[in-house]
Amino acid sequence: MTQTIHDRLLIIDFGSQVTQLIARRLRELNVYCEIHPYQNVTADFLKDFAPKAVIFSGGPDSVTREGSPRAPKEVFDMGVPILGICYGQQVMMHQLGGKVESGHGTAEFGRAFVTPKGEQPILDGWFTEGDEQVWMSHGDHVSEIADGFEVYGTSPNAPYAITADASRHFYAVQFHPEVHHTPRGAKLYENFVKLAGFAGDWTMGAYREEMVAKIKAQVGDKNVICALSGGVDSSVAAALIHEAIGDQLTCVFVDHGLLRKDEAAEVVGMFRDHMNLHVIHADETELFLGELEGQSDPETKRKIIGKLFIDVFQKYADQIEGAEFLAQGTLYPDVIESVSFSGGPSVTIKSHHNVGGLPEKMGLKLVEPLRELFKDEVRALGRELGLPDSFIGRHPFPGPGLAIRCPGEITREKLEILREADAIYIDQIRKHGLYDEIWQAFVAILPVRTVGVMGDGRTYDYACALRAVTSVDGMTADYYPFSHEFLGETATRIINEVNGINRCTYDITSKPPGTIEWE
Ligand code: XMP
Repeated sequence: MTQTIHDRLLIIDFGSQVTQLIARRLRELNVYCEIHPYQNVTADFLKDFAPKAVIFSGGPDSVTREGSPRAPKEVFDMGVPILGICYGQQVMMHQLGGKVESGHGTAEFGRAFVTPKGEQPILDGWFTEGDEQVWMSHGDHVSEIADGFEVYGTSPNAPYAITADASRHFYAVQFHPEVHHTPRGAKLYENFVKLAGFAGDWTMGAYREEMVAKIKAQVGDKNVICALSGGVDSSVAAALIHEAIGDQLTCVFVDHGLLRKDEAAEVVGMFRDHMNLHVIHADETELFLGELEGQSDPETKRKIIGKLFIDVFQKYADQIEGAEFLAQGTLYPDVIESVSFSGGPSVTIKSHHNVGGLPEKMGLKLVEPLRELFKDEVRALGRELGLPDSFIGRHPFPGPGLAIRCPGEITREKLEILREADAIYIDQIRKHGLYDEIWQAFVAILPVRTVGVMGDGRTYDYACALRAVTSVDGMTADYYPFSHEFLGETATRIINEVNGINRCTYDITSKPPGTIEWE
C-alpha cells in the first residue's frame, strides 16, 4: 500500500473485468484511489488505509453461492460512504439483510434505461432529459432491499437499479456506471465523491511535489541508475527522479543498433543537453547485431536481445559507484495486474523485452515513482515536468526495436532501408495531421524481394508493409483507415526516395487475430 497525504478512496475488487475503469473515472475527478482484491481487505487493512469512501466493484460470482466473496463486515461500521456496483450492490444488500435471487428470469445483459424516482443528491445533474441509458451485466438480482434503503431508480428488469440509505451514505446500483455504454455514468461517481467530501486534490502538480519529497527520503545520499529507453515511462521517471536527487541519478541508454533514424541522438541530446541529466550512451550496436546474425526465429531474436540488454546494462551499471537503487517506470496497471485475484495464467504470445530480471540479478532496491499512475497521468506529469509535447505524445516503440519489424534475418542493409522508409512514413503522417489519431505507425521490411521497373530498368528490391493502428491500450487494435490518396502518395514517396524498396503494401489486419508488431 502507498502512503499519500491525499484523501483516499478504496475500491474493493470482487473480480469484475472493468474494475480498472472505476479507478479511471475517479482519477479523472482528481480523486486518489487504489484497487485491492477483497481477500486482502481485512479489518487491519481498513484501519491502515483509512479510506474516506469505499466502492465495491462488480464480480462474476453469485452471492447465493456458499463461499462466494464478501466485504469485510467492519467496512459497514466505519462511518464512510459506500457505493456498491452490480455484484457490489448484491453483496451489500445481502450482508445488510436484504435478499438476492438467482435463477430463471434474473439475468440482464446489455443496454437498459433507468427511470429516476424521487429526489436524491446522487441523481443530481443526471436524468435531466428523462431516462438514462445504462449498461447491465448481471445474472442475479436483488429481490429485497436492506432496511434503511429507498429506491431512486428502476429499469424494466431491475426494480432496484438505484437505491440508497441516505442516512448512512450507502449507495447501490445494479448497472455499471464506469463503462462507455453508460454514457453519463461519470455523473454518478462525481456525485458520490462530492457527497463523500473529497477535495479533488489529486493533481499532477501535487503529485510531483509529493513524489520529489518521497524519492529524496527513500534514496538519501545513495546513487540511482535508470535504463532510459526514450519511451514516455522511463523518460518521465528519469525526469522526476532527476528533479529530486540531481546528479545522484545516472541513466544508461542502451543503443542496440535497432533504433529508428536519428533516435539515439534525439533522446541523448534531449536528456543530456536540455535537461542536464547524466546519460551514458552505451552504443553496443556491434555486439547486438553480431549476436543476431543469421537468426531468423522471432522468439530467438527476442531472447537474444533481452539477455544482451541485461548484460550490457549490468556492465555499465557496475561502473557507477555506490549505485544502490534501480529506477523503473512501472505503471499502476502493471501493479494491479500482478495483485489481481482474478488474473490467471495466460498463454505467452511473445516474450516481452523488459528489465524485470534486473533488480534480483543486481541486488538493487527499486525506485518506482510512477507506480500509482495510469498512462495518461504519466503524460500529464511529463508535461508538468517540462518534457516537450512532441516527446510525450510519441507512439510507443517496443524494447526489441526494429528487430521485430524486420521478419526473418536482420542485416545492416535491411535496417538502413527500414529506417529511411519509416522516417518518410512518419513524416507523411505528421504532414497530414494524423499522428495523434494513431496509436502506433511503422514500416516493416519484408523478407522478400520483388521485381519492378523504374525508369527503363528492372529492379529487384525489398517489399515493405506499412502498419498503422488505433488502440486504447495495445491489447486490441484496428487498422487505421487511411484515404487512398494518402496511401498512394506515401507509397510513391517511399519507392522513389528509398533505395532498396520497390513495392509497398498496407497491412489491414486487426488485433486479434494479428498482433501490432510483425514478430
Ligand atoms: P503486439 O505486437 O504484441 O504489441 O500486439 C502490443 C504493444 O506492445 C509493444 N511491444 C513491446 N513493447 N517490449 C516492449 O516494450 C516488447 O518486447 C514488445 N513487444 C511488443 C508493441 O509495440 C505494441 O505497442
